[in-house]
Amino acid sequence: MKKIDIALFVFLLALGAGMPSTFVGFEPLPKEAPAPPDNPTTPEKVALGKLLYFDNRLSGDLSTPCAGCHFPALGWGDMGQLSRGYPGSVHWRNSQTVMNSGFYAKLFWQGSSLSLESQAKGAATGNLAGNVDTAMAEERMAQVPHYVDAFKSIWGVNRPSFELAMKAIAAFERTIVSWDTPFDNWLRGNQELPEDAERGLELFVGKAGCALCHNGMLLSDERYHDLGVPENPLFTSSPLHQITLRYQHFGKGVHEEDYRGAHTDYGLYYTTKIKSDKGKFRTPGLRYIAFSGPFMHNGVFGSLEEVVDFYDSGGGQGINKSPLMRPLNLTGEEKSDLIAFLHTLSPAEPILMGVPTLPPYAPTEE
Ligand code: HEC
Ligand code: HEC
Repeated sequence: MKKIDIALFVFLLALGAGMPSTFVGFEPLPKEAPAPPDNPTTPEKVALGKLLYFDNRLSGDLSTPCAGCHFPALGWGDMGQLSRGYPGSVHWRNSQTVMNSGFYAKLFWQGSSLSLESQAKGAATGNLAGNVDTAMAEERMAQVPHYVDAFKSIWGVNRPSFELAMKAIAAFERTIVSWDTPFDNWLRGNQELPEDAERGLELFVGKAGCALCHNGMLLSDERYHDLGVPENPLFTSSPLHQITLRYQHFGKGVHEEDYRGAHTDYGLYYTTKIKSDKGKFRTPGLRYIAFSGPFMHNGVFGSLEEVVDFYDSGGGQGINKSPLMRPLNLTGEEKSDLIAFLHTLSPAEPILMGVPTLPPYAPTEE
């Protein structure tokens, strides 16, 4: 199937399903995500951002640096159904991969963060994640001569600041891109897809209807849908998870009834407080999924086979379930073709990165 055919096919499919045509065609990923004008990506900033991403001194008790929940060898996530949390808590959602995150207009499962810069700040200071006091983080960085020199040379400042540290981390993240995949190389016209994956692609844009939501460069429409993903049983069996969910419900200001019966994650509702947004989550991009499981906002599915079975049966029980979810009647062979296609969205090998040696503290002379 040629590229142009796919664009046309999905367009017709969207029309057929009575959808507003929000379809944007597939595109290969560039090697780097675009940077905002106030934070251009430079090699020096990226090198600093890399150190800070791995530096545990940017977390409250030194145990949760960014890499603690977004570790390169764990798909740049943490491989748990629900992420680990700052000591004394657990996280309430699956840790998303940082791979390709620079391409999203809005971050998080509920799209509540508007830039990598502000996301990094929220993560470093958030009680469930980094839980660091920004003044303490600045004192710590100021005691590391390498950081003092790097901040001076990049921004001309005399003292490392928390805000600039977050900019450096964001610049580093923009370079974490899985651009060299069979699918990208096929889109560039450099490579054929294996036959089963090609049949899978036809199902993806056709019979299985995946491209209605998974489209564009990231294979995400960046919209929010309720698929009826089953609840994670940990929210009914694990006190720590219940504490986390209630804490979130309290902080995000839900009605008391929802607070008391806390076992459900309402997703987009927390941002909009509109009832019809309950249960909706951002369509995740499908790049790098070969390495970034478990899947969905609460990690309930451990394999792509389980995900495809879930879609095949028309999704789950959702209060605001998308009308696009319907039984697909896929044969066993069609399911494996679809999975073969999904595998072409990831590189053959995971993108790894060794933990850098962190620059040491030194006493101030004077
Ligand atoms: C304790 C675990 C933990 C730590 C520490 C942590 N994160 Fe996360 N991160 C998560 C979880 C869980 C999510 C998903 C949260 C949600 O959607 O509500 C997430 C989401 C993200 C996303 C959004 C990706 C997307 O597709 O929208 C980015 C980017 C990110 N984290 C970067 C960072 C950076 C940078 C740091 C360090 C400053 C950091 N994280 C620290 C657990 C963590
Ligand atoms: C109605 C829009 C829609 C359709 C159609 C759709 N998806 Fe999704 N997809 C989503 C949303 C939204 C999520 C996240 C749901 C959640 O966490 O509650 C998701 C999650 C996923 C995930 C998990 C990714 C991750 O990082 O956790 C995979 C894999 C996936 N979809 C593949 C597919 C395939 C294959 C099809 C076609 C059979 C498909 N999707 C059809 C919207 C859709």
